[in-house]
Amino acid sequence: MKTPHILLLLLVLCQTVTAQTGWSQIRNGQPWYDTQGNVVQAHGGNFLIEDGTVYMVGEDRTHSWYPDVNLYHSRDMQVWEYDGKIIQNGVTTPELGTTRMIERPKLMHCPKTGRYVIWCHYEASDYSASEVAVFSSASVTGPYRLEWSGRPLGIKSRDCNVFVDDDGTAYFISTIQENQHLGLFRLSDDYLRPLECTVLMRGLRREAPAIVRVDSLYYMLSSACTGWDPNQCMLSVSRSLTQGWSPLTPVGDRIAYDTQASGILTLRRGKRTLHLYVGDRWKDPDLPQSKIIITPITLRDGRCHFPYMKTYRLNLRKALVKP
Ligand code: DGJ
Repeated sequence: MKTPHILLLLLVLCQTVTAQTGWSQIRNGQPWYDTQGNVVQAHGGNFLIEDGTVYMVGEDRTHSWYPDVNLYHSRDMQVWEYDGKIIQNGVTTPELGTTRMIERPKLMHCPKTGRYVIWCHYEASDYSASEVAVFSSASVTGPYRLEWSGRPLGIKSRDCNVFVDDDGTAYFISTIQENQHLGLFRLSDDYLRPLECTVLMRGLRREAPAIVRVDSLYYMLSSACTGWDPNQCMLSVSRSLTQGWSPLTPVGDRIAYDTQASGILTLRRGKRTLHLYVGDRWKDPDLPQSKIIITPITLRDGRCHFPYMKTYRLNLRKALVKP
């Protein structure tokens, strides 16, 4: 979908304003356009920040099914430049055909190898495969090659995310065993292989997990499994990744402001930390028109304050927001 020229002009104007003031305008609930005038398609993805540049990966849902993976970059999270399709269904992995659903692609940069690594849910059209796929590249913009695909440690795995701890250890967390539990997979130091799996939230049927660490406390947001329909977002906290997670407590409104979590983005400036909830407003009204929703949240003393800001100003360099 293309945007009219007048909107493109506005985008250029925004870029100039942000460059001069440091403040960008985030508008939730409406399509975002890239600098070529196309609707930004990056669902279920995540962000990587390098030298002030924010990279965003996510599902390209333009055609609803069998998504490719798009990459964008921005200096202000308002003006997004398109880097292209870094994983193309059936092209990056011709040996696996074109009938795979790539969902929730998550990008990490591995300090040991210097490679960019993507883990994703790699599914059959009826969700029976319950597999992952792992891709890597020497450059963030690609080319990405398939490292392997299948069930991690033989375990059925669906909705997923990644988490890199302060010591650089990376984890893959996913909804396992037919959506019954969450599996926390500790990864090898090249971020390419699962080494061990710890079962979390046994029998609680959680998906869309998103973990962040604040000082010595881990916070996890997750949702129930209701397909593309939104439901109550829940918080659990723990001092250890592998045990002691607190009972689920509701945060935000009854349906997470019509979203499902894809991640929590942490921005830091000196001693200041800003957390941004990132979610997908799926099927708004159809899959191609799903929206990316990003709203500031507060994580403190084991609690999460999760309001919804439809529009706000963001200063990426200062890690600040204002209405
Ligand atoms: C909810 C998941 O979080 C999405 O990634 C997707 O798998 C849908 N379910 C499919 O119904």
